[in-house]
Amino acid sequence: MKFKLSVTQKQKSFIDANESEVLFGGAAGGGKSYGQMVDTLLFALKYPRSKQLVLRRTFAELDKSLIRLSLSLFPKEIYTFNSSSHTGKFKNGSCVDFGYCATENDVYQYQSAEYDVIRFDELTHFTEAQYIYLISRVRGANAYPKQIKSSTNPGGIGHAWVKRRFVDAGQRGKSFLGEDGMRRIFIPSRLDDNRFLTQGDPKYRERLLALPEREKKALLYGDWDIFEGQYFPEFKRDVHIAAPFEIPRSWRKFRTIDYGLDRLACLWIAVSPEGRFFVYREYCESNLSISAAAKAILERTPECEEIYATLAPPDLWSRSQETGKTKASLFSEYGINFTKTSNEREAGWLALKELISYEKERAPKLKFFPQCEEIIKCLPALTIDKIKTSDCATEPHEITHAPDALRGFAIFYARPERETKDEKVKMPWSQDMWEDYFSASEEEKKYLKRKYGEPL
Ligand SMILES: Nc1ncnc2c1ncn2[C@@H]1O[C@H](COP(=O)(O)OP(=O)(O)OP(=O)(O)O)[C@@H](O)[C@H]1O
Ligand SMILES: [Mg+2]
Repeated sequence: MKFKLSVTQKQKSFIDANESEVLFGGAAGGGKSYGQMVDTLLFALKYPRSKQLVLRRTFAELDKSLIRLSLSLFPKEIYTFNSSSHTGKFKNGSCVDFGYCATENDVYQYQSAEYDVIRFDELTHFTEAQYIYLISRVRGANAYPKQIKSSTNPGGIGHAWVKRRFVDAGQRGKSFLGEDGMRRIFIPSRLDDNRFLTQGDPKYRERLLALPEREKKALLYGDWDIFEGQYFPEFKRDVHIAAPFEIPRSWRKFRTIDYGLDRLACLWIAVSPEGRFFVYREYCESNLSISAAAKAILERTPECEEIYATLAPPDLWSRSQETGKTKASLFSEYGINFTKTSNEREAGWLALKELISYEKERAPKLKFFPQCEEIIKCLPALTIDKIKTSDCATEPHEITHAPDALRGFAIFYARPERETKDEKVKMPWSQDMWEDYFSASEEEKKYLKRKYGEPL
C-alpha cells in the first residue's frame, strides 16, 4: 500500500538523525510532535517486529496529543490500536507502546521491558532520574538501531538538565560526543520551520506575540536561556558572581548545611562589616554517613578559620527510632555543633530573594565565588511549584540541596529573634559580640541578647 506524508526540513533532520540521543527542541508549533509520530511510523515499517515506547508525563496529555495524532496518521489498513493497553500493532509485527510517568516511580512499570527506540515528548516535563532509568530499557538482541528520540519546548521542571545535556553540551544541529561517550544531537525548532501551521493559521504567531515576555521567548523563539516557571529569575551570573578575594579574618563566617544520605550540601558564607554576604566555599556530596559528612566539612574548614555558627534545618533534631539520638547530636559527637534554623519554606525563599535582589544602582547583598558551582547551577534551575506557587518545586530533587542550605542561612539572618532560641546550641560570645554589646544602648543590648542568646 502507498501513502503520502510531507515533512518539513527540520522534521526530516529529526527522522534522519542516527545519534543515540536526539533532541528536537524549541518553539511551540514547530512540528516536533508531528515529527515524532511520522518517525515512529517510518521506523515501525522499516524494521519488522520492532518495539517502540512513546512517552508523555501524564496519560491525559498522551491521550489528547500523541495517541490522537497517531490514530490520524497511521494507516488503518496496517495499524490497530488497543485503547485499554495503549498499545498499537502494525501488520509487520512492529509495536508501539504509549506510556506515561506521572510519578517518579512510574518508570518501574518498564522494569522488564526492552525497546529499540524510546521517544519522550515534552522531555522537560520529565526528571533526569526518570530519563536515565528509562534509557536503560533501550536494548535488544536484534540489529536494529537503538535510540532515544525526544521533543520538547524549553521550560518545565526538567529545563536545566535537558539544556545541560543537549543544548549547552554541543553545537546546535551538529552531532557531538557527550562526556559519557554517548553521541547526541540537538535540533533546534522554530515556528517558521513549520509552514503547515504558519500558512494554515497565520494568526497563531500573533497569539504567541501577545504572551508575556518570558513565555514569548520560550514558546515563539524557542529560547533556552529564559524559561517559564523559574523561581529566581533575578539570578544573573554577571551580577551575582563575585571575583574571589581573600576573606579578611575578622569577618564573621557561617556554615549552612542540608543533610540527607542522598546528598550533603554545605556552604560557607562570610559577612562583611557592611552587611554583604559572600558564599565563598561549597561542598556537596552524595551517600555520606554522618561521620563522613562531619569529617569532610571539618577538613574543608582551615583551622585558622573561625566559624561563628553552623546552621542546620530542624529535621536534623528529630530522634531516630533505633538509636533515640538526633542527627544533630551525632554531628556534635563528630565535632560540629549546629544552630537550628527555621524550615518555613516560603519565608525562607522570600528572605533569599531579598538577599539576591538588586537594582541598577544597588548591588545584591549576596554574591557567590565562582567555585561554588552547585549552588550557582541549582539556584537558577529551581522552578515555581505548580500547586503552591509561592514555593519552589521539590523536583528535580537533586537540585534542591544546595538551595535549601542557602535558604536556611537566609531565614536565620532575616529572623534573628528565633522562636527556636531555646534549642539554639549555646556558644560563648566572641570578642566581636562583646564589643557590639558594650557599645550598644540599653535598647540595642536587649536586641543583641535576643540575637546572640544569653551571654555564656
Ligand atoms: N509535516 C506536517 N504536515 C502537516 N501538518 C503538520 C506537519 N508538521 C506539523 N504539522 C501541524 O502543525 C501543527 C503543530 O505541529 P506539532 O503539534 O507537531 O508542533 P509542536 O512543535 O509539537 O508544538 P508544541 O510545542 O505546542 O507541542 C499541528 O497542527 C500539526 O498537525
Ligand atoms: Mg508537541
